[in-house]
Amino acid sequence: MQISTVNQQFAMDVAAGLSASPKSLPAKYFYDKRGDYLFQQIMELEEYYPTRCEYEIFDTYKHRFLELFQHSDRPFQLLEFGAGDGYKTKVLLDAFTAQKANFQYIPIDISNNVLQILAADFKKRYPDLNIAPFNGDYFKALEQLSENTAYRKVVVFMGSNIGNFTRIEAVQFLRQIYQRLAKDDLLLIGIDLKKYPQRILDAYNDKKGITRDFNYNLLLRINKELGGNFKLENFLHSPTYNPQTGDAKSYLVATKDHEVYIEALEQTFHFEAWEAVYTEISKKYSISGVENLAKKSGFEVVNHFFDQKKYFVDSIWRKA
Ligand code: AVI
Repeated sequence: MQISTVNQQFAMDVAAGLSASPKSLPAKYFYDKRGDYLFQQIMELEEYYPTRCEYEIFDTYKHRFLELFQHSDRPFQLLEFGAGDGYKTKVLLDAFTAQKANFQYIPIDISNNVLQILAADFKKRYPDLNIAPFNGDYFKALEQLSENTAYRKVVVFMGSNIGNFTRIEAVQFLRQIYQRLAKDDLLLIGIDLKKYPQRILDAYNDKKGITRDFNYNLLLRINKELGGNFKLENFLHSPTYNPQTGDAKSYLVATKDHEVYIEALEQTFHFEAWEAVYTEISKKYSISGVENLAKKSGFEVVNHFFDQKKYFVDSIWRKA
């Protein structure tokens, strides 16, 4: 089987993950076209509260955010990591443009396609917006933009994407942001909080089975792109939550002893009955955990903003 150069990394990661003990598959491969679509659907689910909570926070505190961003004699540059469809960003941009705030908006995304769609939409919605999309890696963007000190930088990393890292990885990631910012620059970070354990479990085990399909999408991608012969009926979507560590983890659990062949790897993998493949972490934090993250990565906490239920926090951190 011919595999493209793009898929070679995928093939290598699948081979490594399925040969390891215990088995795992990297969550970043959820997001092909179908995965993006399923994630959009997840965000609209009744059980998936984070998107609505963060929307509520943005809507409640958008003017307060602007005051904090403008608390400097320079205009600010709003750098959004992983721009997506801009659903929540619009709440901020509506308020900032209505107040004629002096700022530049820089959506950053690896997908040029996503950026082009977003930029076209925003140019229509905000004809006077100073927008400069950046196609590429987050850190490359920060490095290139760091030369321009005319703007105060405000990095926006929303959606509790930080939860898809372990705590150690999260600190490493945040330190890299810190190192590329200048004194007085800000980070606005959205983080999902610890809460009723069942509420968290339900968010990753919705009644419609969309999150299950999202998890299954990893197997479907292996079948499609690497010539695998996974049968979905041989696996269960199995989310767990540990209230002590805050780790919400998803697994694909084999329901019987069987084998799967992957053509591109010319390899057969054995699955024992009830063997679990780890696919994703969606880590939840306590407030002291959030403050510890800030401290460990070098930042000073400016303020926390919560939704009414205190399910989610958008926290503003500053490089002192
Ligand atoms: C993108 N990320 C923050 C989502 C989360 O909650 O971890 C991805 C997701 N996985 C299952 N449902 C949503």
